[in-house]
Amino acid sequence: MCRGGVNNVREKAQVSRRQFLNYTLTGVGGFMAAGMLAPMVRFAIDPVLQASGTEDMHAVVEVSEITTEPQRFDWTIKQVDAWYTSDVIHSAWIYKNEKDEIIALSPICKHLGCAVSWASNEEYPNEFYCPCHGGRYYKNGLNVPNTPPNAALDLFQKEVKDGTLYLGAQCQTL
Ligand code: FES
Repeated sequence: MCRGGVNNVREKAQVSRRQFLNYTLTGVGGFMAAGMLAPMVRFAIDPVLQASGTEDMHAVVEVSEITTEPQRFDWTIKQVDAWYTSDVIHSAWIYKNEKDEIIALSPICKHLGCAVSWASNEEYPNEFYCPCHGGRYYKNGLNVPNTPPNAALDLFQKEVKDGTLYLGAQCQTL
């Protein structure tokens, strides 16, 4: 009699086929949903997870090399696109203004994106000049009125540390 009672309890504790299917489908469905949602959530919050601050600044030149005449300096950064890493060259026109402040201008023309250069046109010896459509900029980066560019050159974020100029994103405009 006691044995029969134990068997009854065991039979009641067993999972029915319907329950087993429910548990299995819920588990597999939840796993698949998590697998789909995780990349979406990661993508949505990615900017928050990005490193910021001084890690985005790159050593470009010793401050002692900077003169009052704009000079072009290049630096290379490692760019990671998914599993592909490449070297990308960045450039800036750098000089010291009359207040001894360091100015670092983007060489990208604000008209259609050609590269500007300093004093490259004999007619405009003290300006940045874009050869693509004759765009002109004053030394401080402002666009000369009535030339193709309709905005000033971008300025780089900058920081001087231990006698070296570091540049970051080009996010400031005049
Ligand atoms: S791209 Fe520079 S003037 Fe047109």
